[in-house]
Amino acid sequence: MLRKRELISAYELFALFRNTALIAAFVSVLAVAAGCKDDSGNNTAPPTRKDSSEIFRKAFAMPEDCRVCHPQHFEEWQRSMHAYAMIDPVYLAFDSIKNIRSNGKLGQFCLECHSPTAILIDNAPHSSAKDKISPISAHGVSCDVCHRLAPDQPSAVTNSSRFTTDSARRGSIIDPVPNSYHTSLYDSRYEQSIVCKNCHDMYTDGGLLIEKTYTEWKNSSFPGRALSCQSCHMKFYSGKAAKGGPDRERVHRHQMVGVDVPLIDFPGREETIAEVQDILHYSVKMDVLASESARISDKTLPIKVKIINVLTGHSIPSGAVFNRQMWLEVIVTDERGDTLFATGLLDRNGDLRNNTSEEVKAGKIKYDSNLVVYTGSAYKHGVETHFAWEADYIEERMIPPFDSRTNLFNIPIPKRSGADMRISVRLRFRAMSPALLRLAGRADLIEKLPTFEMERYSGTIPVK
Ligand code: HEC
Ligand code: HEC
Ligand code: HEC
Ligand code: HEC
Ligand code: HEC
Repeated sequence: MLRKRELISAYELFALFRNTALIAAFVSVLAVAAGCKDDSGNNTAPPTRKDSSEIFRKAFAMPEDCRVCHPQHFEEWQRSMHAYAMIDPVYLAFDSIKNIRSNGKLGQFCLECHSPTAILIDNAPHSSAKDKISPISAHGVSCDVCHRLAPDQPSAVTNSSRFTTDSARRGSIIDPVPNSYHTSLYDSRYEQSIVCKNCHDMYTDGGLLIEKTYTEWKNSSFPGRALSCQSCHMKFYSGKAAKGGPDRERVHRHQMVGVDVPLIDFPGREETIAEVQDILHYSVKMDVLASESARISDKTLPIKVKIINVLTGHSIPSGAVFNRQMWLEVIVTDERGDTLFATGLLDRNGDLRNNTSEEVKAGKIKYDSNLVVYTGSAYKHGVETHFAWEADYIEERMIPPFDSRTNLFNIPIPKRSGADMRISVRLRFRAMSPALLRLAGRADLIEKLPTFEMERYSGTIPVK
């Protein structure tokens, strides 16, 4: 469970250094400091919050420092959602909404994953406290957030004892060559999903698991097939892990593409859009089943659309499911172009014609009662909410790995023999709705939000 962060206690701080060579130096520095300031003779004054912030500040390096020797890793990370996590305008908007709605009670909650260093180094009260956020924290999930994982500390998210402060960077190279900047340590966890778990399973303050990509993966057959998060999100290639280092058979991509794309000017936006299109295209398979011809006497033609999650290591969608929209657009016309059936169309604001649509709410257009959207919905006291961190229940309409969903649509058959029924089916996806961006006060970003086509089918059925 995510706990609200408390100030680092002296005990925690000592626990952090217990097994490192630094403790001796640290204790002696403290003793000197205490000896100077404290003339009462009490030399055991515990370190303060400020001391620990200072230690983390010295330890956590800017990604630009790593760039010098790891230019390829830097370029890829720089355009990742990890680098975007603390400048993401939708994130910042909802973090502010959260502060207002919780009266500041959940201050650092969102920072736990979006920028752990903002807590450890800056003790920033929340993400929008610009004057408190240091440059390293503005980098969100920076290199060192991942490469300073303390051994045997898999659990709490920003617990200070989860990170190391010595010079070692940990990774999956068994025989790293030495360099002048840091020592290197092999740690087998970096080849496993466990390094992603803390942030890719999200519990509310009340203990409800609301984002559960890791748990979905864990409960699937992927662990048994030795396919980790890295297998799909950090493809390997052969090359150098560092300038001047040896050629290696396996180094790993760091852009870690999912379904989100940056909505503001950000490095590699176009490449990211192309990669999201790619990953979404291979993740599912769509089968459309209908008879070869339609008989007027049958009145309606059943069309079955089956979506199979063939290659997603978790449910699709996953993670922030309450924001995602994966939906079926089915349009059937006759040979004259007159519409016989349509679902999955958008309203004038770009929203689906369901409870997200202003036009539906205002009674201007009809509710799309055939609409199929794969997503999740967050509820608080039985009422749907966009503030998922307050939820007490998540209704899940995602498709688990290797599972499928079949949807039946009954299409009215034209009452003329010789007519044609022209069927178009598309499976579409977007990371969030225009309605959500309006709620965030960022309607200006709607035009930047791409909608992806995952699968497409078209066919003609003659009427007999
Ligand atoms: C002076 C050059 C230099 C700088 C600066 C540098 N590294 Fe490295 N790093 C290396 C070399 C060389 C290796 C070993 C590469 C090899 O053996 O193929 C390495 C290896 C690594 C490894 C793999 C360790 C293992 O055993 O798996 C990680 C992780 C790493 N560096 C992270 C970082 C991070 C994070 C930064 C910035 C905070 C950084 N490095 C800065 C040169 C550097
Ligand atoms: C077998 C390949 C595979 C594995 C294993 C895998 N993923 Fe994915 N992942 C995908 C595909 C394909 C997508 C795009 C479809 C989707 O959104 O689910 C994706 C999407 C995502 C997303 C965005 C999901 C959304 O809808 O918002 C996140 C976050 C993610 N993966 C993280 C992880 C983590 C963490 C793990 C390990 C616990 C993992 N993935 C394991 C293939 C994989
Ligand atoms: C979200 C976590 C995460 C972030 C952020 C991250 N890395 Fe990594 N990195 C990993 C993991 C996991 C591996 C090991 C992948 C494997 O072996 O399957 C790795 C591997 C490496 C390696 C070893 C060579 C290789 O490619 O396998 C180096 C060097 C490295 N990272 C440097 C960096 C640098 C530099 C940054 C920032 C510019 C960075 N990493 C950011 C998780 C991360
Ligand atoms: C310290 C927390 C943290 C760790 C550790 C972490 N992530 Fe993330 N990850 C995030 C956050 C936060 C975001 C989203 C940032 C945003 O969009 O504002 C994210 C985004 C992603 C996305 C893109 C999701 C999308 O919707 O497009 C993928 C894929 C992903 N992470 C994979 C991984 C993998 C694989 C690992 C382990 C090697 C990992 N992450 C480790 C915090 C983390
Ligand atoms: C336990 C870690 C964790 C915490 C705590 C967390 N996030 Fe995230 N956040 C993520 C990850 C991981 C992603 C990547 C998207 C995904 O998983 O689908 C993400 C993505 C996002 C996004 C990107 C847009 C989207 O829909 O993908 C927004 C906005 C966001 N988070 C807002 C928040 C807010 C606001 C809070 C605090 C109320 C918060 N997050 C707390 C891990 C976390």
